[in-house]
Amino acid sequence: MCGIIGVTGSGDALPVLMEGLSRLEYRGYDSAGVALAAGTQLWTRKRAGKLAELVAAVGDAPARTSCGIGHTRWATHGRPDDRNAHPHADCSGALALVHNGIIENYLPLSDELAGAGHHFASDTDSEVLAHLIEARMAEGDGLADAVRHCLKAVKGAFAIAVVHSSEPDLIVAARRVSPLIVGAAEGVGLVASDIPALLGHISECFALEDDQIAEVRPGSMVVTDLDGNEVTPSRLKVDWDLEAAEKGGYEDFMLKEIHEQPKALTDTLLGRLQPDGTLRLDEVRLDDDELRDVDKVFVVGCGTSYYAGLAARYAIEHWTRLPVEIDIASEFRYRDPVVDSRTLVIGVSQSGETIDTLQAMREAKRWGAKVLVICNVVDSSMAREADAVLYTRAGPEIGVAATKTHVSQLVMLQLLALHLARLRGTMYPDEVRTMVRVLHELPAKVEEALGRDGHVSEVALACHQVRDFFYIGRHVGYPVALEGALKLKEIAYIRAEGYPAGELKHGPIALIEPGTVVVGIATGGHLLDKVLSNVSEVRARGATVVLVVDDGDESTAALADHVLWVPQTHELFSPVVDVVPLQLLAYFLAKARGNDVDKPRNLAKTVTVE
Ligand code: F6R
Repeated sequence: MCGIIGVTGSGDALPVLMEGLSRLEYRGYDSAGVALAAGTQLWTRKRAGKLAELVAAVGDAPARTSCGIGHTRWATHGRPDDRNAHPHADCSGALALVHNGIIENYLPLSDELAGAGHHFASDTDSEVLAHLIEARMAEGDGLADAVRHCLKAVKGAFAIAVVHSSEPDLIVAARRVSPLIVGAAEGVGLVASDIPALLGHISECFALEDDQIAEVRPGSMVVTDLDGNEVTPSRLKVDWDLEAAEKGGYEDFMLKEIHEQPKALTDTLLGRLQPDGTLRLDEVRLDDDELRDVDKVFVVGCGTSYYAGLAARYAIEHWTRLPVEIDIASEFRYRDPVVDSRTLVIGVSQSGETIDTLQAMREAKRWGAKVLVICNVVDSSMAREADAVLYTRAGPEIGVAATKTHVSQLVMLQLLALHLARLRGTMYPDEVRTMVRVLHELPAKVEEALGRDGHVSEVALACHQVRDFFYIGRHVGYPVALEGALKLKEIAYIRAEGYPAGELKHGPIALIEPGTVVVGIATGGHLLDKVLSNVSEVRARGATVVLVVDDGDESTAALADHVLWVPQTHELFSPVVDVVPLQLLAYFLAKARGNDVDKPRNLAKTVTVE
């Protein structure tokens, strides 16, 4: 996830910027850069790769320059290279800007600006902001007014910091959706995306709210709204140490990432919708005719990414009427599947580097299939080699167990399914629009589910001595059961089996004995009655029953020893919401056992061996 740092009034800005960037490294990044306000031009350096590359490149920086901005980039638009690294300049080189977030309408805006003679030096969505501000300043606005005007024209999410050589001690900062903190004390002014970057420099700072603009100068700052009225931002007391600050105040990265899921979903959905309500999957390099020609779909992945495919299958089949097979990558590549040029093979991978999935994609290409990859890391090996790529925008995931990337993959697969259905004419535009509206309600529903974490922790405490767990579900609830069981195995080291609820009686029910915990996915799908029959079968054999239940469904709740309540949503989207209490349950069980949830034993975040 990108990081921002800015300082003005410091005797020497560069060391402050470099230290701030190193404190933002934990968020993950693929390039970094700084700009210093030095005389009539700005001095800028940016480098792809680790911070060491940038350190090696700033040796000739102008000495004792007191104002500057810095950035660590996690690519979303444009590959991670020097050109696309921030800061971005306007045409004159007098302005430098850093940006976190996504500008949804950057394409029409950059077309307009290019038509007016602006030259773009990168493939990013961010650069458009630099030129928009430049255009406004050319009409006579000062920097802050130009920023204000430009922000009225943009859609999407942003936190920005801007410097201009005409006012070399001023940083203008603003935000919408993406966080930004500002502060001023004893002759310095600071701007940062996260608290770690500011630690040691300032003890009190302010969190900007949406559409607030801060003019930060040495020792002073003024915050205004989009209309220029002065406002008071929210005060933040910074009393965290560095480790707590990196985790955003959460105990572990995994918990932080579980709580980042609403944002991950919002960002993944951002900008995918055209003004007329149709879908824009602009990274798809397969044209519409090629996609219309598809007569079979494979979804291939490993672990949690494979389960995202399993959960999305129901929507893809239902909406597109295409046959869909979901395969474990390490099986798919060796089993001679029936694949030809009309087959669409969708690789799903957080890292884009998992060797099993990468090799499966290569095989699929060799067999002549069209290969589309859904992944979270821009320019990863899979992204580079596929015919088309769709990026989830969950930001870097540091905890080894996948959480926010899983729900983002699900939503991305569902968007793709709607896109295919529209192309194939198996859904009316109105139906697609209705589903897209429901998709946009998911971040709020996930937020609500997260709000019940206190109750999930009580359920975990009640069960933490138990050695055997079963997770059961039917239809879309089945992959949720598999993912819930996987999370428990990975971080709590508890034996857990995910099973289709209807299959229990064909064997595994022999393992149920008094005290076994059975977690059932019992939200309101069309097979709820059948799930409940299976729940009764395990209850009769003494199992402790934990059920994931839709808010208000008291009759289902009555069958459980413990209830995990979730807000109700459309059946095909329910895995996105229903998985949340299961992630939390695994997390609290692991913590109750004293495990390191961020680095579970025997596991690696990215598996690059077969
Ligand atoms: C589970 C988990 C793993 C990964 C799997 C695939 O929490 O993290 O099961 O899902 O190793 O990794 P990616 O998605 O990077 O291909």
